[in-house]
Amino acid sequence: MALGAALLLSIAGCGGGGSNPLSNPPSVENPAAIGGRKLSFVYFQKCINPILLASLQINQGGVVSTNTCASSGCHDNSTGTGGALRVVQSAQPVDLANPANTPDAVRASDMYKNFYSSQGSAVIGTPLQSRLLTKPLTLNVLHGGGVVFADQSDANARRIAYWISRPMPQGQDEFSSAADSMFTPADPATGACNSL
Ligand code: HEM
Repeated sequence: MALGAALLLSIAGCGGGGSNPLSNPPSVENPAAIGGRKLSFVYFQKCINPILLASLQINQGGVVSTNTCASSGCHDNSTGTGGALRVVQSAQPVDLANPANTPDAVRASDMYKNFYSSQGSAVIGTPLQSRLLTKPLTLNVLHGGGVVFADQSDANARRIAYWISRPMPQGQDEFSSAADSMFTPADPATGACNSL
């Protein structure tokens, strides 16, 4: 008994938190993630979505053919077999100058589904760790769709790398006007897509 009492007292002495060493440990704090930066929506819809719809030469195990990333059997939203990357082929560009296209309205659009799925296949700020780039390059990974971009100097690969490497500033959302500088001239409506 004396030994038991001494043991309990010593456990209390080891910082068991509350007075009862056998009580539950303090609850684990799990603060909400607030740090995530966003990629640009306007650069996506003008410069990246067209790549997902383009007819590209692909090489699957030496068999060369032409296909689109968004096609059925590949990344089509309903009939694709392409894992988590899903593309709505019929998604229309959203007119961001139209005041009716509020952030909530844009986030309900098909184009936003393509943006969100593509952003989900990226490690924001780090293109060479992003499946959206490494898969079509087969860079240290296999790809069900084979080699789509011959190497990192491919124009489409450079655009995808540019988009992922330039997230919007901390605290700003995917519609930030900071994206203007991703175009030349710096106007998404008239400017050409910059790339790496
Ligand atoms: C620019 C074009 C393409 C891009 C950016 C792309 C990107 C990707 C990405 C990011 C994944 C991984 C998805 C996950 O994390 O679950 C993936 C997987 C896959 N892709 Fe593609 N892909 C492209 C073209 C294609 C094409 C043309 C085909 C079909 C011929 C295809 C077939 C597949 C399949 C079957 C998978 C699942 C197996 C795997 O993980 O490799 N892809 N692709």
